[in-house]
Amino acid sequence: MKKIISLLLAISLLVLAVGCGGGDQAKKDDAKAASSGGKQITMGFSQIGAESEWRTAHTESIKSAAKAAGINLQFSDAQQKQENQIKAIRSFIAQGVDIIAFVPIVETGWDTVLKEAKDAKIPVIVVDRDVKLSDESLYIAKIGTDSVAEGKKVFNWIDEYMKKENKQPRSGDKFNIVVLEGTVGSSVAIGRANGFKEAMAAAPDAAKYTILASQTGEFTRQKGQEVMESFLKSDRDKIDILFAHNDDMALGAIQAIEAAGLKPGKDITIISIDSVKGMFQAMIDGKANCTVECNPLQGDILMETAKKILNKEEVPKNVYVEEGIFPADVAAKTLPERKY
Ligand code: AHR
Repeated sequence: MKKIISLLLAISLLVLAVGCGGGDQAKKDDAKAASSGGKQITMGFSQIGAESEWRTAHTESIKSAAKAAGINLQFSDAQQKQENQIKAIRSFIAQGVDIIAFVPIVETGWDTVLKEAKDAKIPVIVVDRDVKLSDESLYIAKIGTDSVAEGKKVFNWIDEYMKKENKQPRSGDKFNIVVLEGTVGSSVAIGRANGFKEAMAAAPDAAKYTILASQTGEFTRQKGQEVMESFLKSDRDKIDILFAHNDDMALGAIQAIEAAGLKPGKDITIISIDSVKGMFQAMIDGKANCTVECNPLQGDILMETAKKILNKEEVPKNVYVEEGIFPADVAAKTLPERKY
């Protein structure tokens, strides 16, 4: 009797195990089938590099979304060089991938290679940053963020904060702003700078502010620190506000400000863009004042859009991801919920 019971138990466990395994396989097959009606989709993706905490989160979002969607991702890292991106796109065309997606490191210089993709009948999706083209039909859709809106949010937050805190200029009668710009020629650096200046020009108290210095820190922590050091060398006692085009440069600048014997977040009001965890920690530590979100979680929407395009469905030309704004007083409460 004992033997019969153990045998029955073993058989039922075996049935259960086979059942579960089959379910997993079925799920995998579904993901594949959903992507292309049978044939797995191959996407060639050209990323610009790994210059910031934000970029790492962006790459991770693209890779994990491709996996979840059953899309075969051919990932290429351009190491901050447009020529490497052009080479990668050409190699995707030569391989005959189903679709190409890329983050344009700079706005211009894409017409020829995108025309080659169009001639090869390979649809292109622009991700994160914008391109300037003579023919907009060279790409099907752009998924990313609105950098002009981000720049405007930065100035408007500063203006409100300086009034609310009753801040006074450290020297003279105007608030002196220094700017750490992103990669030269990138749509995000151009858009953020323009949005900031537009909002400043439109503000009723525009005359209270002046941009003392503005220079690229190439979106990296190291360069942000170096450029801030040089700003402080010439204007240590004049700088009231730092606007960094990304959090990494702001985090580098904080080190330079402390080394110069000043209190970041107090002597110099600091605001930047991205909203990565490191910036939340700096705000919790009282060393920064605000971060405007630039959302790197673009993977799922990219894969969905790619499937729709290959399915010949209509897609919007521009898709903007949702973005918030986080001042220091919400940092401690918000940090545990942050995904990047
Ligand atoms: O293009 C998005 C920008 O590029 C992010 O703000 C920055 O951190 C990144 O490197």
